[in-house]
Amino acid sequence: MKKVKAGVIGVRGFTGEVLAGILLNHPNTELVYVTSRVDKPVPLSEIFPYLEKKTRLLCEPFDIQKAVKCDILFLSLPHTVSMEFVPLLLKAGKKAIDLSADYRIKDMNTYYKHYKKQHTDTKNIAKAVYGLCEVYKSKIRNAKLVDPPGCYPTAVLLAVLPLFKENLIKDNTLYIDGKSGISGAGRKAKIEYHFAELQNNAFAYKAFAHQHVPEISQAIKDYAKVGPNIVFCPHVIPAARGILVTVYGQLKKNTDVQGVFKRFYKNKFFVRLRNRLVSLKDTSFTNFCDIGIKQHNKNIIITASIDNLMKGAAGQAVQNMNIMEGFNESQGLV
Ligand SMILES: NC(=O)c1ccc[n+]([C@@H]2O[C@H](COP(=O)([O-])OP(=O)(O)OC[C@H]3O[C@@H](n4cnc5c(N)ncnc54)[C@H](OP(=O)(O)O)[C@@H]3O)[C@@H](O)[C@H]2O)c1
Repeated sequence: MKKVKAGVIGVRGFTGEVLAGILLNHPNTELVYVTSRVDKPVPLSEIFPYLEKKTRLLCEPFDIQKAVKCDILFLSLPHTVSMEFVPLLLKAGKKAIDLSADYRIKDMNTYYKHYKKQHTDTKNIAKAVYGLCEVYKSKIRNAKLVDPPGCYPTAVLLAVLPLFKENLIKDNTLYIDGKSGISGAGRKAKIEYHFAELQNNAFAYKAFAHQHVPEISQAIKDYAKVGPNIVFCPHVIPAARGILVTVYGQLKKNTDVQGVFKRFYKNKFFVRLRNRLVSLKDTSFTNFCDIGIKQHNKNIIITASIDNLMKGAAGQAVQNMNIMEGFNESQGLV
């Protein structure tokens, strides 16, 4: 059986940890290289004790001479950091899947506005394929560099693309409420993320300012050729993981929305259409996106649930790898 040699850069973070777990269990991969900003090599099982007896792999500081033993590398790094690593990997002829937003946004003014840094690897942006597997599978198949959508954009796009593709939305306007568990913010410490602060609390943030709105609009324009008006407000809720989005809008004319979604997601393994509104727990620890639709005449409410660390990050990254390497799309993910 073909085995691909895989590496994870930034393994100590939330998405890196989940990636390591998936890749250690994946029948077609051998996890051969993991990195973090450690002072000296340290067993991965010392960082994550539950991996003892599962792997003897060392977590090391990044070194391109060592990274080249991999066929494919996953970058679990913050935005503005990945772009320092990706050119080195591509130059060495390696495939790369970047979980940061560094290669998602095509307009550099928009990138600068939201990420507060000039992009330093603009020449590779055009090569990057947006890794929304349900939509861009044929492009992903031949890609050397894939940048899967962020966690909110994954849930939102899967919930709205069928509507825009069929040009069904009045004024191309949708109102979207996003709710995320706290692991969406990464492993870093911040007062409002502490257990005692977040327990029994929830807060809205970044209204009209969230970096995922231009990403969502760019993807809708690219795929459905429609300029959308997306009114989005994210919220942090007292959960460790999971994303739930609720989309509100009006149809141009009365349409069977359930039927539209059924046709759109026919044979798309990781999207499950429910006959009810969905919850976080429907998709916890899985790579599925569950969608629930309610319609009252021309008014629609669409709900979508994903696990942010799986379908919203590490799981979707491995789904992309499966497509790039010609494996079954669900290999290692169910
Ligand atoms: N969390 C989610 O739900 C989610 C979903 C979709 C996409 N993403 C994206 O995926 C990426 C990783 O997210 P995460 O949640 O795993 O973040 P995280 O938990 O904060 O982990 C980030 C990793 O990058 C390393 N790192 C930080 N700054 C670095 C630098 N300057 N140079 C080298 N390494 C550095 C970290 O530190 P050490 O080297 O000290 O270990 C850590 O290993 C981010 O771009 C994020 O936006 C996250």
